[in-house]
Amino acid sequence: MKEGWDPDIYLRYEGYRARPALDLIEQIPLDIEGGIVDLGCGPGNVTKRLKDTWPDRAVTGIDTSEAMLAKARESYPDITWEQGDMSTWNAETPKALVFSNAALHWITNQEEVVPRLMDAIKPGGWLAFQIPVTEESGYQICLSATVHSERWAEKLANVWMYKNPMDPGAFYDLLTPASTSVDIWVTDYHHVLEGKNPVVDWIMGTGLTPYLAVLDEAEKTEFMADYRGQVLEAYPKQGNGKTLFLMKRIFVLAQKA
Ligand SMILES: C[S@@+](CC[C@H](N)C(=O)[O-])C[C@H]1O[C@@H](n2cnc3c(N)ncnc32)[C@H](O)[C@@H]1O
Repeated sequence: MKEGWDPDIYLRYEGYRARPALDLIEQIPLDIEGGIVDLGCGPGNVTKRLKDTWPDRAVTGIDTSEAMLAKARESYPDITWEQGDMSTWNAETPKALVFSNAALHWITNQEEVVPRLMDAIKPGGWLAFQIPVTEESGYQICLSATVHSERWAEKLANVWMYKNPMDPGAFYDLLTPASTSVDIWVTDYHHVLEGKNPVVDWIMGTGLTPYLAVLDEAEKTEFMADYRGQVLEAYPKQGNGKTLFLMKRIFVLAQKA
């Protein structure tokens, strides 16, 4: 399971993590009445941006993690926060916007869920989501190598890992039957990170959580030493000592017919 989220670790890179969400929000021409849902809302800082953009609408953040929701409730009491699983979620009343930033890769059944999300949207409303494309990224290649190494393969064999997004054509075909338009784009973000091994600090708040959750303290130390060494080699420092961290992200924006 994916519990083990720590909102404070996750929020260390809040600015960089929010940037794709803001880039997506800017593209949404929301001109029909209705509420907004943020699926996999995490600590709520992106949900707050939705509320700031459309202050007169009811905005609800949904997440499985009680730790994330507790942080969200404490930080933004004027937004509604609900525990729920987006892989089975349905709206009680159709929404003007169903939004999700950096969360849909945590479910295994994207091909079932993505078309179903369209059922939760009013005609003329929008589905907007962003998913990181992790497959070819250096940190993911290092993670795979560490997890599948002789030392860890057996212990970590059954740990659930997030799913790469489907390719643009697959999203397009899933969404066109219920949409008047489907807009898809992919952007490379080169985040400038500071510190000795900052890519590992980034992943501590996300992709490493399922692995660390099943290791005891001694194993965690050993696992992290293996992983840190690999990542350090994969991300050489720039001339000024900083690290350029490439994150490729796919964006999908569809208007409900
Ligand atoms: C990388 S965080 C993204 C948080 C937020 N959307 C943002 O942009 O900062 C992924 C979030 O998805 C949540 N999550 C994972 N699986 C989920 C599921 N099946 N249903 C709802 N939320 C889920 C996690 O608890 C976590 O808070």
